Parts: sequence; C-alpha cells; structure tokens
Amino acid sequence: MSPSSEETSSSLPLHVGIIMDGNGRWAKAQGKNRLEGHKKGAEVARDVVHWSKNLGIKQVSLFAFSTENWQRPKLEVRGLMSLLAILIPKTLPEMMHLNVRFRTLGDISPLPNSAKKSVKQAVEATKNNSGIDLILCLNYGGQQEILSAAKNALRHALLQDNPEQAMEELNPTTFRELMWCDDIAPLDLLIRTGGEKRISNFHLWDAAYAELYFTDVLWPDYSQEHLELALEDFKARERRYGLTSEQVQS
Ligand code: IPE
Ligand code: IPE
Ligand code: MG
Repeated sequence: MSPSSEETSSSLPLHVGIIMDGNGRWAKAQGKNRLEGHKKGAEVARDVVHWSKNLGIKQVSLFAFSTENWQRPKLEVRGLMSLLAILIPKTLPEMMHLNVRFRTLGDISPLPNSAKKSVKQAVEATKNNSGIDLILCLNYGGQQEILSAAKNALRHALLQDNPEQAMEELNPTTFRELMWCDDIAPLDLLIRTGGEKRISNFHLWDAAYAELYFTDVLWPDYSQEHLELALEDFKARERRYGLTSEQVQS
C-alpha cells in the first residue's frame, strides 16, 4: 500500500449525514404503534451523537423530519413534534456535558411553538460548544434549500447595475454561500438505515461527492457497531472527485 492510500484509508469522514429510517417498520414488527418506533428512534439519535463524538466525527447531521413528512397522518406528525418539544430540553444537560453544538437545518417556522422553543433554547445554550456539531434536519428538504439559494442569488443580481454579469459570476462556491448553513462541511458519508436506497431530498447539494452507505438495519436497532462498520467501509473507499485512481494515488 502506498503511503498516500494508507493515509486515505485511515481517514475519518468529517461530516456524516444519517437518514434515520425504519422507525415505523420497527414498531410494526413489535406490535407497537408508529410513535413507539419514533420514541425508540429518538433514543438512538441521542446515542449516535455520543458514538460519533467518541469516534472522532466532527459534524453529524440527522434527518429528523422532511418537508414531505407533514403529509403523514396528523396524529403521527403531532407525536413527532411533541417528541421534539420534550426530548430536546431533556437531552440538553447531556449535550452540554459532551460539548455538543446543537443546530438545525430547515425552516423551523411552521413547527409548533413548544418544539420551536425547545430548539431555540438548545441552539442558544450550546452555541459556544465545540466538541461536535449536531445538525438536526427539521422540516428540511434539499430541493427547498437549493431553491432558496437560487432566489437569494436572483434577488442579489437584480439589485446590481448589471444583473446579467452578477449571474455570470455565480459559481458553485459562491452559490453554496447562499444556502441555509454555509459553514457546514459537504457530506463525506451518507448513511441510510431501513433498507431503502434513495436520498429522499436529504442534503442534495452537499451530497455531491458523499460516499453512500445503505444498511437494512432499522433505525431503532442501530448500534455503535453498525456505525463502526459504516466507518470501516468508508475507509476503504477511494474518493476520486472525477480524477483517475493514479492521479489520486500520486
Ligand atoms: C423515519 O422512520 C422517521 C421519520 C421519517 C420521521 P419512518 O417513520 O419513515 O419509518 P418507516 O420507513 O415507516 O419504517
Ligand atoms: C426520510 O425518510 C425522512 C427522514 C428520515 C426524516 P422517509 O421515510 O420520509 O422517506 P421515504 O418516504 O421512504 O422516501
Ligand atoms: Mg421511512
């Protein structure tokens, strides 16, 4: 093995994104209602932050509620929102202890006030922490995030003397700066549990060169060993970004 590939193979992803899927199927298999699955899933979400921190990951984003999930049965949506309102404050002391910086990605304005309040308090309380960034994707949609950046770009261009030139000057880097959280690193590793092999509107722009990892494990059954397996798999990948293998090796 060449020194460079050895170096690559020991590398950890900086930013891991997780589509935490399978709560409903887990509950069904246990003869429980879907909300019981979400409750167990929320415990695992809390644990995965611990594991990630211990394993040296710097940013973890968890897909908790998509822009499309509003269309689920009212009772389920309400249950998910109360879980957020209750569990975020309950987990706050632990986040402080672990030095977690809690933030969200997505438009939280339509969330019920109780959930919004919990989110805002946790964001404020943890804003100076630096151990790991936990990015909870709430009412998040990748298409919506890109569209919002496009609207920002258009607004900016229309204010310039030469809008055409302002448009021409846009490039992937400057466009990225107009997105919701421009200080979050691109996704290195995208994990989806629950067996489906799709992205479901998660981090569309930032997953451009993410390594994808799919597992059949249902989210409530996810363990530190499963995360370690995903990291092992990531280590063995060669990220080429359009180059040839020889170029990457040298
Ligand atoms: C993921 O689990 C959690 C959310 C989308 C909120 P699901 O609720 O989608 O579980 P399945 O896919 O129905 O098993
Ligand atoms: C994606 O899971 C959203 C979250 C995990 C929050 P879904 O269960 O909503 O995705 P689809 O419907 O299977 O694509
Ligand atoms: Mg699902």
